[in-house]
Amino acid sequence: MTRVKTAVLISGRGSNMMALLDAAKSPDHPAEITLVISNRPEALGLEKADARGIKAICIDHRDFDTRKDFEQELHAALIAHDIEFIACAGFMRVLTGGFVAKWEGRMINIHPSLLPKYKGLHTHARAIEAGDTEHGCSVHWVAEGVDTGAVIAQAKIEILPDDNPDTLAARILVQELDLYPAALAKAIRALS
Ligand code: GAR
Repeated sequence: MTRVKTAVLISGRGSNMMALLDAAKSPDHPAEITLVISNRPEALGLEKADARGIKAICIDHRDFDTRKDFEQELHAALIAHDIEFIACAGFMRVLTGGFVAKWEGRMINIHPSLLPKYKGLHTHARAIEAGDTEHGCSVHWVAEGVDTGAVIAQAKIEILPDDNPDTLAARILVQELDLYPAALAKAIRALS
């Protein structure tokens, strides 16, 4: 099996990234994760990837005058490392249509809500405030527009009466770590 050279884009602690790295250690997983890129130098995920021996670099978006300039550098780094597929994992930069067009069909994201509900930020608080009884996470293809694109897989849990955004986020994260490696495999297998 030819494995697909995959980059993980992060902005923070990198728990989803670690779940992907763990899963991709198996030769049966179709992703070969060879690169991690963060847009924030302080992202804990950078050290975690480095400790695993995975090439981990920062492209700090604050070093660029425009979103387009940042994305040009990001694209160049991906190409320089022969990347064929991108998994966004807590990558908190909105990508422009120009960048998305270059990677459409080869870029996925995980979002902590049952899309199409609660695109954007503060998803857990919004689900609780709305009185929802269930909440979850989604892995989806990245299309132009925030948290849009066809859903690949979702996991759902019950919202408990005494949940607050933190307790709910913690229980959803457990689901995310299970869902994302399987959804990445599914997305890559759908390519061929
Ligand atoms: C995860 O909960 C992920 O779903 C969310 O950020 C967290 C990152 O945690 N992503 C988004 O909100 C994207 N819109 P991690 O860095 O520990 O994986």
